[in-house]
Amino acid sequence: MKNGTLWKDIDGNDIQAHGGMSLAHEGTFYWYGEHKGADNCPGTTRVDVIGVSCYSSADLMNWKYEGLVIEADHTDPDSPMYYKKVCERPKVIYCRKTGKFVLWMHLDSADYTFAGVGIAVSDSPVGPFTLITAKQPNRLDSRDMTVFQDHDGTAYLFHSSNWNKMMAISRLTDDYTDVDGFFKYALIDQSREAPAICMHNSKYYMVTSGCTGWEPNSALYAVSDYAMGTWELIDNPCEGENYRRTFEGQSSYIFEYGGRKYLMLDHWKPYDLRNSGYSFLPLEIDEKGIMTIKWTDEFLV
Ligand code: DGJ
Repeated sequence: MKNGTLWKDIDGNDIQAHGGMSLAHEGTFYWYGEHKGADNCPGTTRVDVIGVSCYSSADLMNWKYEGLVIEADHTDPDSPMYYKKVCERPKVIYCRKTGKFVLWMHLDSADYTFAGVGIAVSDSPVGPFTLITAKQPNRLDSRDMTVFQDHDGTAYLFHSSNWNKMMAISRLTDDYTDVDGFFKYALIDQSREAPAICMHNSKYYMVTSGCTGWEPNSALYAVSDYAMGTWELIDNPCEGENYRRTFEGQSSYIFEYGGRKYLMLDHWKPYDLRNSGYSFLPLEIDEKGIMTIKWTDEFLV
């Protein structure tokens, strides 16, 4: 898998799973993302919503298309999933307590002023997921987002809020289908988006991008002692050529495999979104807690 390019599934079709994530469950990896497999609306940087796609793999290299786990609505303009709206950055977590898979995604109006989340559930990792609700979590505007499951089972929504000026962290209910009302702000007035979270040696790490639309910018990472602790911005973790433009990509998720961490990146093509590429880059954190992300031409595990 050549980093920075659009990858193929095992049937030779383009992998359509942008702004995505990889969930490990019972020995299988599931890659969820935005299906953008249509032409941009002429002259714009949008593709009408198709839905959230899912791919499965035993080795992170060979991906089988499992279909759309939730689809756009083509009939009801009031539906939060109406195809003329926005559905981005889907993230799925498995709730041990209920045995359900819970999908959180950024749902928005076409002009990004609804600024909410959609929450959907399924009994199976390959769906179908049923939308429970779409709303602003804790009555906060919410755009780029991810969900993070802590080692104690508590889960959190990390979402760019206050017109993207802050990163809000909202704790989820124990069935993961709602926020429980407890939230705090981090990265105040830093205008960060595209959050991706991981844990290392009892510390919490958050990689974000700046807010320049689809244009690449510098990544930054922050560190905290708790998911809802005090997040300290540290530095740009990228090193090497193009380090100030995150290797022409934008963060979407951090997954672990074989004791190593990898950062998933999107390489957006704003006027040809369906051909946006992917990278999975090794993310290292040394004994002093310093994070480094370097470009590799290939994703190899
Ligand atoms: C940057 C975000 O990270 C993307 O998910 C998308 O919302 C674009 N902005 C839209 O311009």
